[in-house]
Amino acid sequence: MYKTIRCGDVRAGDIGKEVTLAGWVDRWRDHGGVIFLDIRDRWGVVQVTANPELAAAAHETAARLRNEFVVQIRGIVRRRPAGMENPNLATGEVEVESREVEVLNAALTPPFNINEESPVDENVRLKYRYLDLRRERLQKNLVLRHKITKFMRDYLDPLGFIEVETPILFKTTPEGARDYLVPSRVHPGCFYALPQSPQQLKQLLMVAGVERYFQIARCFRDEDQRGDRQPEFTQLDLEMSFVHRDDVLDIIEGLFTELIPAVAPHKKIQQTPFPRLTWTDAMNRYGIDKPDLRFGMELCDASGVFAKSEFKVFQEALKSGGVIKCISVPGCAAYSRKDVDDLMAFAREQGGQGLATVAYTGEGVKGSVAKFVAAGEAAALKQLTGAADGDLILLVADTIMTANKVLGALRLLFRDRLNLADKNKISLVWILDFPMFHWNEEEKRWEAEHHAFTMPKEADLPKIDTDPGSMLSDAYDLVINGTELGSGSIRIHRADIQHKVFERIGLSEEEIRGRFGHLLEAFEYGAPPHGGMAPGIDRLAMVLADEPNIREVIAFPKNQQALDVMADAPSPADPRQLKELHIRLLDER
Ligand code: AMO
Ligand code: AMP
Repeated sequence: MYKTIRCGDVRAGDIGKEVTLAGWVDRWRDHGGVIFLDIRDRWGVVQVTANPELAAAAHETAARLRNEFVVQIRGIVRRRPAGMENPNLATGEVEVESREVEVLNAALTPPFNINEESPVDENVRLKYRYLDLRRERLQKNLVLRHKITKFMRDYLDPLGFIEVETPILFKTTPEGARDYLVPSRVHPGCFYALPQSPQQLKQLLMVAGVERYFQIARCFRDEDQRGDRQPEFTQLDLEMSFVHRDDVLDIIEGLFTELIPAVAPHKKIQQTPFPRLTWTDAMNRYGIDKPDLRFGMELCDASGVFAKSEFKVFQEALKSGGVIKCISVPGCAAYSRKDVDDLMAFAREQGGQGLATVAYTGEGVKGSVAKFVAAGEAAALKQLTGAADGDLILLVADTIMTANKVLGALRLLFRDRLNLADKNKISLVWILDFPMFHWNEEEKRWEAEHHAFTMPKEADLPKIDTDPGSMLSDAYDLVINGTELGSGSIRIHRADIQHKVFERIGLSEEEIRGRFGHLLEAFEYGAPPHGGMAPGIDRLAMVLADEPNIREVIAFPKNQQALDVMADAPSPADPRQLKELHIRLLDER
């Protein structure tokens, strides 16, 4: 071993001992006599002195050191002189008086400072990810992820779950994204698909009698990048046999109730048992299927208040079957014309046609539609929303879907603008009873809302031919602070129902056999009732680490263009390799 003690572990109890350290030069200061070094390893930083009068050779080497040189240092632990202690540092009472300093490797001047978290352009950080990872923030995030997955394994093992690895080279498993394909060399013209999730394989493991399965599973999805999406990401993938919906929810809820305080003690779960909302309630009350419950500002339906409104926009919305919905924004009644115009532009970006405002000010009711609002309506609106003087009501008259979408987005905008959500609070909420299908207008076909393996509510099965849009399913989501943490469902375990659902989403007999024949066949050999879930580990780590995007909790993420800028991937393939794979490029660049 190059070290007898970790840099971050040296304490007053070691005073007088000889130690050997190894690590990186975090900082060095030459005061013309004694040289002061901070030496860093994963466990922290310790101060080292190099005094020419005590060890001339060590001092001479120390004088040549620069930041990020890799060094080994032998020395004696001393108490720091009175007044020189650093109470902010775990090693702040002591320093190591060097006797020998050896350079294990030199380092170029790094493109950014490792020893401070000053802002650096993200593409530079990603290009030099191995240097960025040396910094405290990412080191902490790596440790957090390790703790999360370790906790999961330790929690699930005694409950009878076993971890099973499933293939990466497989067949298409649709989860709503495009597949990454891998060409086969030995089977010309044939491709594996990387799994968008182990969904089919975990179901096959249930047919195989595993009963309780989990995997820290890598998933691959070619889709548009966002702050909470990566082309490859990790799920806690879990499946159970002989369970009803609530059995799965109980396992997952138990896991997170214990995991969060264990790995992120500064975070407080807002409410246990986790609140449960139906999908319809979530949409109506928060305008979104992943509500952030750390603050109120619920959507209200003011259609009744404005049933006899003289404002044309409101009249027309109601006449055509729409609604007038609103939120009450605390303390913003004094918003200027420009402030309100900006909100209107935002509402339009969300697909709305406009935004009406009613402000309860000291000088009476103001706002963009004040002149159309009768005194009785203003009073009724105030009562409905619970608004106080000084509050601003934002109203949207539209179809229920658009009104929900616009107000749901405005609610989140004000969460951030007015700091309404406590960042140390964790709101976990179950969303239940999702629709089974939604209509894809572009492709003119029904699509599974969760995925095609989800069991419709038994009572809704007869509607599959006549009214699929009104069918509910046994799917559920777990939402954390307004981010979808995980999805799951009770699965179809009967071949006839599965076949019917495939048909309903527009697959031909040939496609069904070609893509899912193995699954349907398996279901004919005694498939047990089963269900499961897959919480995203990257998203969990992102929320627990207070990071703004999931790249910060992934060791080697892709950038927003799905590029690895460190290794320069993807990159052109060698023509010989392409030939072996039977691939000819359309446009040779
Ligand atoms: P779903 O597609 O909803 O369900 O994914 C489950 C969870 O995985 C995470 N996730 C992602 N994280 C980062 N980047 C992405 N591109 C990404 N896509 C998804 C999210 C999400 O909630 N097989 C089903 C689960 C099941 O039914 O058991 C599935 O994959 O946290
Ligand atoms: P207009 O008569 O179009 O100038 O609109 C008067 C006010 O009504 C403005 O504040 C508009 O933003 C608002 N408005 C227009 N359409 C809607 C709508 N669908 N919902 C709510 N407010 C609207």
